[in-house]
Amino acid sequence: MNKIEELQSKIAEAMLGGGEIRVASQHKKGKLTARERLQLLLDEGSFEELDMLVTNRNRGLTADQEQFLGDGVVTGYGTVNGRLIYVFSQDFTVYGGSLSEPHARKICKIMDLAVQNGAPLIGLNDSGGARIQEGVVSLGGYADIFYRNTRASGVIPQISAIMGPCAGGAVYSPAITDFILMVEQTSYMFVTGPNVVKTVTHEEVTSEELGGAQTHASKSGVTHFACSNEVECIQYIKQLLSYMPQNCEETAPVYPYEPGNEVREALNTLIPAHPNQPYDMKEAIALITDTDSFFEVHKNFAENMIVGFARIAGRSIGIVANQPAHLAGVLDIHASVKGARFTRFCDAFNIPLLVLVDVPGFLPGTDQEWNGIITNGAKLLYALSEATVPKLTVTTRKAYGGAYCVMNSKHIGADLNFAFPQAEIAVMGAKGAVEIIFKKEIDSAPDPEARMNELVADYTERFANPYLAAEKGYIDEVIKPEQTRIKLIKGFKMLENKVVNMPRKKHGNIPL
Ligand code: COA
Repeated sequence: MNKIEELQSKIAEAMLGGGEIRVASQHKKGKLTARERLQLLLDEGSFEELDMLVTNRNRGLTADQEQFLGDGVVTGYGTVNGRLIYVFSQDFTVYGGSLSEPHARKICKIMDLAVQNGAPLIGLNDSGGARIQEGVVSLGGYADIFYRNTRASGVIPQISAIMGPCAGGAVYSPAITDFILMVEQTSYMFVTGPNVVKTVTHEEVTSEELGGAQTHASKSGVTHFACSNEVECIQYIKQLLSYMPQNCEETAPVYPYEPGNEVREALNTLIPAHPNQPYDMKEAIALITDTDSFFEVHKNFAENMIVGFARIAGRSIGIVANQPAHLAGVLDIHASVKGARFTRFCDAFNIPLLVLVDVPGFLPGTDQEWNGIITNGAKLLYALSEATVPKLTVTTRKAYGGAYCVMNSKHIGADLNFAFPQAEIAVMGAKGAVEIIFKKEIDSAPDPEARMNELVADYTERFANPYLAAEKGYIDEVIKPEQTRIKLIKGFKMLENKVVNMPRKKHGNIPL
């Protein structure tokens, strides 16, 4: 064999991964191989692989351990829609994609390159966890990755797709990254699997129930997306990337946009006549943003809060909005954490924020108090206060109590605050307020109910409107709803070059 043939034969061997039988078994599970996934993700012909010939020389449990070129992970760089990314794709056909020392070193190498060169890191995870034969060396490998994930946080976007098992310590790399996507039925994430759960807590639970995509998308919020299959998962990664800059020093790409008639008359009739009637804030979002540009994040988790990316006049924005169609848009623990984390991502990566407000207040009750609504609600307050990107607010209806302050009020640094004429900005709702202030008067009235109704009507007239806030300048402008898009296009443009100089500090101390 001449030298070139020798190289070709090594490449052919590496391409086979764990061999045809294991590849067939991967396909039978409804899963693609590591290389097939890369092919779907990256622009054709753009992938440059590194470390294809890395092998594992560690002597583990068995001295005659089979060697595979690449050692269970394919790493390298390439482009997605013409933009550079770094990627690792775990190969389940080699020792179940488990993480050995060389496997971890390969991942660390491209993580370092991604940070030094300022481009996103994408991890395609499909792994049986630590390489059991290796023991602590493989645990060290995990820690090396976690450390890099943390150092890279806020410097480059990091996205994790879970396309198979991800259990034990392995979950903590995705957990630190910015976005997690899981594939329904073929992926799961948990710290301890169903067998350990049964032994320790006597609960009987399947892998899917314990840590499948739907569970984490709706119950725990661990994953931001539950994808129906791997193709959709990779499509979502590409879509996500389209809203983001390459790193924290840059801004997101601007999409072509033809100015047209920006008046949206449908917004005039979106808010129902009765303040307790729900409506779908997503309709408002669709009307305000560029056609089909809204990409919802965390869709099935804490649905009383909506977060997601969109474009306005071709420019990326992040949206944080109350959803009056779910639990009346109340702020609770999950909604606050969801809004806070998304806000921090946008701020870290120079994506301006639009906050849409229709919030009756914080959710009362022992469940919320005992689980720390104070600390968790403070996260949203902190995140929005801390953000220095352009911050615009539109109050469509209610903004009551502490929730008024939290939802990007002027006082916590919003640049422009608009309100619809239907807005009700007050300390609390009319009935609650009257019951407290006029308790004695109502009790002693000849007809308490009639007196109560009179007082509620009077309070509503005087306080449930946007004009007291506008008088103080807390609302910059009360707008006709149909004008919202025009106001936002102009507002975001006006704030394009916003600079905020922060006092020097090591880092803040967000209430965790
Ligand atoms: N270390 C080394 N090899 C591993 C491994 C690990 N952590 N996890 C899986 N493998 C190997 C298996 O030995 C098998 O090898 P083979 O192809 O030579 O037979 C191959 O990967 C596929 O595993 P298999 O168990 O057949 O696949 P599965 O789809 O039925 O199950 C898992 C997947 C992940 C549920 C199962 O392999 C498992 O429980 N692995 C161990 C998980 C763990 O405890 N990890 C360590 C702590 S983090």
